[in-house]
Parts: sequence; C-alpha cells; structure tokens
Amino acid sequence: MEKIIVAIDGYSSCGKSTIAKALARYAGYTYVDTGAMYRAIGLYTLRKGLKDEAAILAALPQIEVGFRLVDGAQHVTLCGEDVEGQIRTLEVGNRASEISQIREVRAFLVAQQQKMGIEKGIVMDGRDIGTVVFPQAELKLFLTARPEVRAQRRFDELKEKGQSPVFEEVLKDVNDRDYRDTHRAESPLRQAEDAIVVDNSDMTPDQQMKVIYDYFDRFK
Ligand code: DC
Repeated sequence: MEKIIVAIDGYSSCGKSTIAKALARYAGYTYVDTGAMYRAIGLYTLRKGLKDEAAILAALPQIEVGFRLVDGAQHVTLCGEDVEGQIRTLEVGNRASEISQIREVRAFLVAQQQKMGIEKGIVMDGRDIGTVVFPQAELKLFLTARPEVRAQRRFDELKEKGQSPVFEEVLKDVNDRDYRDTHRAESPLRQAEDAIVVDNSDMTPDQQMKVIYDYFDRFK
C-alpha cells in the first residue's frame, strides 16, 4: 500500500488526538498534533506577557516549535524545552485559540506542518488540516460530538491531571472555543467537502476505532 496523508479535523475535546494517535500506531505512521504547536506559541506569549498582535509578530522569528519522542510518546518542545506538561491547561488552550486567529501565526505553523507531510505516512490532527494544510489528503475525517459530551470528557481529563475544574465553566469554555474556532476570519474550522463526518457522542472508544480503521483500510 502506498503511504497516504490522513487529515483529522474537528471541534475541541472530541477525542481527535486519541483517535489520531491510535490510527498512527495502527498504520505505522507519524502522528502530529498541530493543536500542541498553537498551544506552545500560546504558552510563549503568556510567559513573556505578549498581548498585542504586533508584539507577538515581532517575537515569532524567535519561537521554535518542535517535537521529541519520550518513551514512545510525542512531546512538544518550545525553543528546545519540553513543555508538554505545561500546555494542557484551559488558560493555554484559550490563549492558543486567540493567537490562532492571527494570519501570520497560522502561516508560520502551516509551513512547518506541510514540510512534515512531504513523505506522506502521516496522521495530522487540528482544525484546518483537510482544508488548508493538506487539501490533497487522501483520507479526511471530521470528528464531532455534542458540546455536553465534550465538556464532560475535558472535565474528567482535567480532574485526572489533578486540577479542580467546574463543569459549567468547562462547558462554557467548550462553547466559546467552538464559536471562536468556527467564526475566525483566518482558516475557520469547517468541514472539507470531501471529509467523512464521524459523530462519536454515542460511540464507545472501540466502536469508534473500528469505524476509523475501516475507513483507513479502504486504502490498502
Ligand atoms: O486541539 P487543541 O485544543 O489542542 O487546539 C488548541 C487551539 O489551537 C484551538 O482552540 C484552535 C487552535 N488550532 C488551530 O487553530 N488550528 C489547528 N490546526 C490546531 C489548533
């Protein structure tokens, strides 16, 4: 089988990264979490107290985002520092959503993402993978789930990490982020015309993976 590009897009907290990681393992492909790249830039701007767009753009050339493997798991790096443990908070997620509205920030990351896919054999997840980064991707999946279901998943995840989330706040955050991600001027989250929609609100993890592996196997 020739290697392909798998583009996975969808709303926040609908299990994109779990699915993308599992599919990459199944296929023997490289997994790239583009949300982590936006989060790394978000973290940089929070640390340096950069708020306005001009300051962020001026800092962009100094920001280096990469990945490294730690015990088989992919960790995002910021200027060489492993920041995987610091980017998965609501604060960084919200900042990532804000800075992802800046055209130059998107262009900066999209160029890096496209380079990662030159040899194919990649599963990339994000918001604009099937529409902007790899419009030529052979398999495009668009994941979705009801907001309450996604908020519950994020709530459980944050609790597991030792944080003390409030469900109503998490739900509001999910809705706000959906709004921002789908209404921004630059590459808003939308389904590519040739994407396959998977609503996993009422699927068990196993059911969902079977559906996704079946789509992938069509390329065998
Ligand atoms: O998937 P995530 O929650 O880790 O993404 C964090 C934010 O980054 C999300 O609110 C929108 C932005 N993002 C984006 O604009 N484009 C991508 N390809 C990936 C993420």
